[in-house]
Formats: sequence, structure tokens, C-alpha cells
Amino acid sequence: MRQRMITRRALLRVAGAGSLLLGGSLVGACAATARPTAGATAQPVANPAFSPDLAITLRAAPSEVQLLPGAKTTVWTYQAQVNTGDPALVQAIPGSYLGPIIRARTGQKVRVTFENNLPDPSQASIIHWHGLHTPAAADGHTSAVVRPGERYVYEFTVTDRAGTYWFHPHPHGTIGKQVIMGLAGLFLVSDAEEEAAGLPTGAYDLPVVIQDRSFDDQNQFVYEPDMMSQMMGFLGERILVNGTPDLTLDLATRTYRLRLLNGSNSRIYKLAWDTGTPLTVIGSDGGLLEAPITRPFVMLAPGERIELWADLRDLPVGTRLTLVSQAFAGGEGVEAEGETGGMGGMGGMQHGGMGGMGNGNAPALGAAIDILRIRVARQEPETLTLPSTFAPLQRHRLEDAVNRDTPRPVALSLRGMEWRINGKTFEMDVVAPEEIVKLNTLELWEIINETNPGEMMDPMGMAHPIHIHGGQFQVIGREVLPELRAGWEGVKDGYVDEGWKDTVLVMPGERVKLLMAFRDYPGTYVYHCHNIEHEDAGMMRNYRVEA
Ligand code: C2O
Ligand code: CU
Repeated sequence: MRQRMITRRALLRVAGAGSLLLGGSLVGACAATARPTAGATAQPVANPAFSPDLAITLRAAPSEVQLLPGAKTTVWTYQAQVNTGDPALVQAIPGSYLGPIIRARTGQKVRVTFENNLPDPSQASIIHWHGLHTPAAADGHTSAVVRPGERYVYEFTVTDRAGTYWFHPHPHGTIGKQVIMGLAGLFLVSDAEEEAAGLPTGAYDLPVVIQDRSFDDQNQFVYEPDMMSQMMGFLGERILVNGTPDLTLDLATRTYRLRLLNGSNSRIYKLAWDTGTPLTVIGSDGGLLEAPITRPFVMLAPGERIELWADLRDLPVGTRLTLVSQAFAGGEGVEAEGETGGMGGMGGMQHGGMGGMGNGNAPALGAAIDILRIRVARQEPETLTLPSTFAPLQRHRLEDAVNRDTPRPVALSLRGMEWRINGKTFEMDVVAPEEIVKLNTLELWEIINETNPGEMMDPMGMAHPIHIHGGQFQVIGREVLPELRAGWEGVKDGYVDEGWKDTVLVMPGERVKLLMAFRDYPGTYVYHCHNIEHEDAGMMRNYRVEA
């Protein structure tokens, strides 16, 4: 089979040959940016009847940090202030401009006053609590953006189980820029079930926020999406963990709970220990699994979280180990025979390397990269052991779904230079008739990563991490087209579908079935690709839960 495949390199040739790409939908997507008025879901002021256990102000504002030798780097951060509740519930990620880490228990009431103090008047913003089941007014719908100088008040009860949730800006069209500049934090929920599990806590419970960045020669973050990067996604030249380039953690001979978040705009990781030791996975997007599982590697796409149990007890002081991202193919469809002179199967070869966004040296999507170095630095006694089980998960049952025989399709496609969902691009105020969900139902959704026959760009499609706002779901099945099986085979053993999910990686040619319940809250939410450039360019739709 010989497919006509347009790679990054080839697209640049096409773009150079004429202006067919100009004035297209990508420009249109940018025009949808920074909607100045709050939408119908706005809840701009505090409700005096709501009495929060934790009330904080989060101010998005510029700052400068020393990341590299020489000039400081301008970043945008969430500066936190605790107004009500225990100040210890809001913590910095040590040494990082990312964050803060907000801690809450299931059942607590939280009020967050978001203040937009970004320096550029075009940077309207709004915060989305990724993974949390909140009322629509507190979900950070992109229509609710506030301009610099304005605020937005969120009030919600934490109903989710213990887990590693996160928050980041959600202004359609400029999410990519704001996340690159540093706006992202963790929302860690605890509950009695988690406490009973006896996991490492305190200094042995570590956030690992993985992102990629490029720096210019003044040490500033580079983010100027050209047509190609807007289309395929931003790839940075170097890895930052918790906002730090080349991070090495000095750890003790103990057991650690590592809470990994892929906070990158587009880069997908195939994580493994360089020692060949399997990863011990204890949690996913929506908290602990039923029992620890091992995987040779774990796929972590933008937006996803994974929790690892890292046991360093038997390692002599001085041991070094590295969490790496292994090479994988097929993230951007398959490379056409001949495009890279016989690099068939190395799909990653096509991405990066041609100067998209000035990232001439960015490793390709799927290239092998080191992520995090660990040095066993000191001897300490340890008494914790890995539990053999956690609490049983409440399982959705297919037979309880209102549409068990007719899954709600979420078809991912490329049409006319745009990534689309069910053939449509994002429309701020539109909910199509087929995007209405009935309150208090369980639904079966099927995400279908279609091929794009006849499309000049990437006819075999690319990997899309699909995120549904409003809560957690359970993945119940995956299939792949025979012609795209090869790339899928290289990643499928790294899926962790055993637990609750809010974001799911869907490889080219893959179909994913999931069950999601729509309880408690009517209102408008979004579902979208968490490749943030795809999202900013319109690979997002509303859905509305109606009573
Ligand atoms: Cu983490 Cu709508 O996104
Ligand atoms: Cu996508």
C-alpha cells in the first residue's frame, strides 16, 4: 500500500508553492479568541450563602524566573492566597513557577476567585478544573472568559474520589500560549479510602509535571504557532519537569508515590524506567486503581495523569535511574514510503526538524527522550509496602447505558485543513441536536479516529487525546483498523484503561468505547482534543446536559 502522505516537510513545500493555506480556517480560529464577555454560564460573584471550607484567590500574573544560565525567563503564574481554611492546603511545587498544588478532601466546599492580571489586554482567560465533576458554571467554559482586570468566582463541592486532578486556562484560541507561559497547577483530592491504602505522603508524594518547551537566545519561551504547528501541534526542544529543565531528584531509599501529569501541549510520552524494571501503576486520571498493575511502559498523552509506586528501597546510595520516553511510531499517522528515504514505520521522523514555530531542533513526536533523572542520595529506613489491592471500583455496566446498542459517535477527522469532531469545528454558542445528553443517564460513547481519504494533509490521521469535561468515564473497549495496526501495536501495552479516565489517547485508526454517567448537573460542557493546538484551532464541541 502506498499512501500519499504529506509530512511537515512536504507541507512547507506546498505552503511555499502557493497561498492556499492562507486565509483558511486557522486564521478563523484565531479570530474566535478572547471573547470579551462572560457567557450564559457566568457566575461572576461570590454567593453569600455558600460557606467554603477552602477559599482562595488565584491571580494569573507575570513573573520572572531563573531557568537557564543568563537572562531570566518571563513566565505567567497562578499566585495563590488563602482567604479561608488551612493555609497548608495550598502549596508551591518546590522551586517551580508552575502550580500551586491545591489540596482538598472529598465533600469539601471550595471557592476560588480567579483574577486575571495578565499583562496583555488580549489575554482573556478562565480556569478549567480538569477531571473534576463540577457544575457547569464552575467548569471554566471558554465562553466565560474574563479580561485582564476582571475576576471570576468558582464555587463547588468536591465530589470526586481521591486523585490527581489539575487546572489550566481554557480561553479558546489562546490556551496553548497561556499553558506554555506557565499557567497550570495541581488539584489533589484525598479521601478516607486513599488514606486507608497507606501510600507514601509528604516528601514521599511527589508531583511530576512533564512539559516540553523551546527557548530563544534570550532564554524566553518560544510560542508563535505557524500554520504547521497550529495544525499538528507544538513540540518543544527540551523537557521540563515541574518547570525545571534537566531535573534530577535526590531521593532516599524509600518508596515514593509519583503523580505524573502530561502538561505538554502536544507531545505524547511512552514512559519507562531506563533500567528495564516495569512501571508499577497505582492510579490513573480519576484516582487509585483496584490494585497495582505493572506495565513495561505507559503511554501518557497531554492531559492524562498516571500514578506510580517507585520503590527505591533496595537500591544502593549512588544509584541513578532515569524515567525515559521510549521511541514509538505512528503518532502522526504513518510515514509514506520514500518520504524520508526509507524510514518507513518511523512516523515520528516527520515531526519537528523543519522549523515549525522556530523549533528546528525539537525532537520528533515519538522520538526517544530522557524525562526525569533520579539519584538515590541517602539511606533511610522504610516501613511501607505496596498494598496488593485498593478499594473495588464501582463499575459502569454496558447494559445500563441508555444507548447500549447505538453508541454516541465522536468521529475525529481532518477536513479541509481542519481537525474536526463529527465533521464540525468548534462553535462557541452552538449545541447540535445530537449533542444533547439527558441528565441522570449513563451513555456509551465511541471515539472513532477516522482516516481522511483524499485529504492532502495526513490522510491516515494522527493521535488525538480526547478529553470530556464534566467528570470521569470508563474505557470498555478498543479496536484498530488493520492497516494502522503496526503503530498501535507499539503503544497498546502502555494504555491504562483499568481505572477512571477523563482523557483517552486515541491512535490513528483506533476506536475507543467508553461509558460515562451524566449526573447532578445540567448545563453546557465541552469535549475536545487535548492536543492544545488542535483544541485552539477548533477540535472541540459543546454538549449539553438537559433535565
Ligand atoms: Cu484539560 Cu478542556 O481541558
Ligand atoms: Cu487532536
